[in-house]
Amino acid sequence: MVINAEAIVIRKHLEQSLRELPPLPAAITKVIDETSKADPDLHTIDKAISSDTVLAAKVLRIVNSAYYGLSRQVSSVSQAVMIIGLSQVRTITLSVGSMSALSGNKPIDTEGTQRFWKHAFGTSAACQILASQCGLDHKSLDTLNTIGILHDVGRMFLFVNFDEVYDRFVETAKEKNWTYETSERELLGESHAEIGAIIAEKWGLPIEVVDVIRNHEGPFDPLNLSKITAIVHVADWLNKDAYYGANKDPIGSLSPILTEALGLDSEKLSQIRESVRKKVSEADQMFG
Ligand SMILES: [Fe+2]
Ligand SMILES: [Fe+2]
Repeated sequence: MVINAEAIVIRKHLEQSLRELPPLPAAITKVIDETSKADPDLHTIDKAISSDTVLAAKVLRIVNSAYYGLSRQVSSVSQAVMIIGLSQVRTITLSVGSMSALSGNKPIDTEGTQRFWKHAFGTSAACQILASQCGLDHKSLDTLNTIGILHDVGRMFLFVNFDEVYDRFVETAKEKNWTYETSERELLGESHAEIGAIIAEKWGLPIEVVDVIRNHEGPFDPLNLSKITAIVHVADWLNKDAYYGANKDPIGSLSPILTEALGLDSEKLSQIRESVRKKVSEADQMFG
């Protein structure tokens, strides 16, 4: 790794931008706090989302999209919670809210944003599939739901605030046949995982969420690997695989440390791979 003068300048801008990053909107913090309680109060959640009219409108637009395939239009947050469930409403709120917190009032590339959302939704869905295979408890499922959506928050931050630098990571990865993460580490000295952990910490997210975001790209030590981290990495990999195919894009191979930690043999993994492909194509329709 060679950190040149240009990389040092970029890092300075990056650090400043991270320092100036606005907090998560109050409505989102309220939703995360309330939904992590053993017995969340639906009225509080409804009030928190509905009080932010832009956020509520965006959430309802997604609830009414083809992805959920509802037979009738949903017109309020409380109705959405009743029909698609609290966990799904939280997922949507978190993804919409985090993107607007990262972008501020800046206009953002819609196509690129959609790509991030699809990846976030797909990863969150794959996390749920893997978690049910591994018999995780309800609280871990909720945590995974949040991390699935936010695991690449550092990458979204680079995309929204440093688009030229982001494009260069992508181009260099393609040219050199590196993974995107290798490109970040080689050119910047740290990856979106470390940047994401700084953001998650700044937003006051639970330490468990911060740690998994920091570690989701590896390297992995079998003696010190949490199941949740393994699930997020495998879910992430399965999504990239569903989009690009292992031979089309340098996504790297899936480490056997992870499949072993989750007790996934090749038959189980290929069944899950099929389910994830289905979910990814549903997420595609959401923004179709
Ligand atoms: Fe990532
Ligand atoms: Fe990812």
